[in-house]
Amino acid sequence: MIEWSPTTIKAFQTTLLTWYDTAGRDLPWRRDQEPYHVWVSEIMLQQTQVQTVIPYYERFMAWFPTVTALAEAPEERLLKAWEGLGYYSRVRNMQRCARQLLADYEGQWPQTAAALTELIGIGPYTAGAIASIAFNEPVPAVDGNAYRVFSRLLEIDADITKPGTRQLFERVISRIMPHDRPGDFNQAIMDLGASYMTARQPDTEHSPVKVFNQAYLDGKELDYPVRTKKPRPQPIDYVAVVTKMGPDWLMTQRGSQGMLANLWTVPLIKLADLDLPTETVPSAELVTAVIAYFKREYQLTLTAEPLAVRPVTHTFTHQKWTIQLLSGQVAPADLAFFAGKSVNEEALSQLPMPKVQTKIWDRYHSAEAK
Ligand code: ADE
Repeated sequence: MIEWSPTTIKAFQTTLLTWYDTAGRDLPWRRDQEPYHVWVSEIMLQQTQVQTVIPYYERFMAWFPTVTALAEAPEERLLKAWEGLGYYSRVRNMQRCARQLLADYEGQWPQTAAALTELIGIGPYTAGAIASIAFNEPVPAVDGNAYRVFSRLLEIDADITKPGTRQLFERVISRIMPHDRPGDFNQAIMDLGASYMTARQPDTEHSPVKVFNQAYLDGKELDYPVRTKKPRPQPIDYVAVVTKMGPDWLMTQRGSQGMLANLWTVPLIKLADLDLPTETVPSAELVTAVIAYFKREYQLTLTAEPLAVRPVTHTFTHQKWTIQLLSGQVAPADLAFFAGKSVNEEALSQLPMPKVQTKIWDRYHSAEAK
């Protein structure tokens, strides 16, 4: 790791902020310094990229314009607002945090990063972002962008997956950031990380801070940041049974704990939970096993056929799902043993569904269209 002199630090600040003032992105959450706006956008931006977040953010603000509105939102509406973003526990925690603000803080946001981390769902990154952007506290906001940008600028060799490395980056960045514009500085780093200093194809040749980028000058940019490899997501096979009951769709709600809690999908069965002899299953045997499963678990009489489409795949943080599709019908019946309900087309669009379910619909309709 290299060290910058006070003169270099000053030159870097000026270069970065001058660039940000002319080329920084005009984003909906940058129009004011409302902590509520900063908070919502930062949590969303932990899920996905800016272009995807913008419409989610606008709709969220239309539905829940204030902390109070968020605190009072019905769960289905909350999950609908987050539909497709993933990691649904985040939005649940946001509502818990909103309630905590009203109950314990008279609805007023604490104004320092240290105090903000006491709130539910607010970790060091989010606390740093809110404190610096909304309250001008000179604290870093260390996310993937900051790790990438500063590890390259300074050739920081610490493994970013190891505990303790965050504090190292926080110390280094604290020394470099200007005390008069901490929020702009942090956001400029984010913009740099999203434009010239991207993970795989950086464009340092045109970067405003090219001359400060030691890793680039040494031809080692892609060696940074240093991280140990993530373990591969565990593969799990499923069968999705897209089922009609008369004119309606059979939808099941996931349990209140664990992945995708309380979200709605078509019946999804782990292949391992079916009585099947081998891994490579001929379709006829799969259909028979699924029919037996519907009878045994739900007391429903199913007729089903395989769909001539590729399986849907979806990767979560720790799991990779491969989902074969069946199309089925059940006769109208009592759903007492089924964790879900039958819904008509209109009610269907109101249910909060995970992204993997959207993929299942798309694949299903592509088969129907053939
Ligand atoms: N990524 C994370 N936070 C961001 C922000 N405030 N603006 C743009 N990109 C971001």
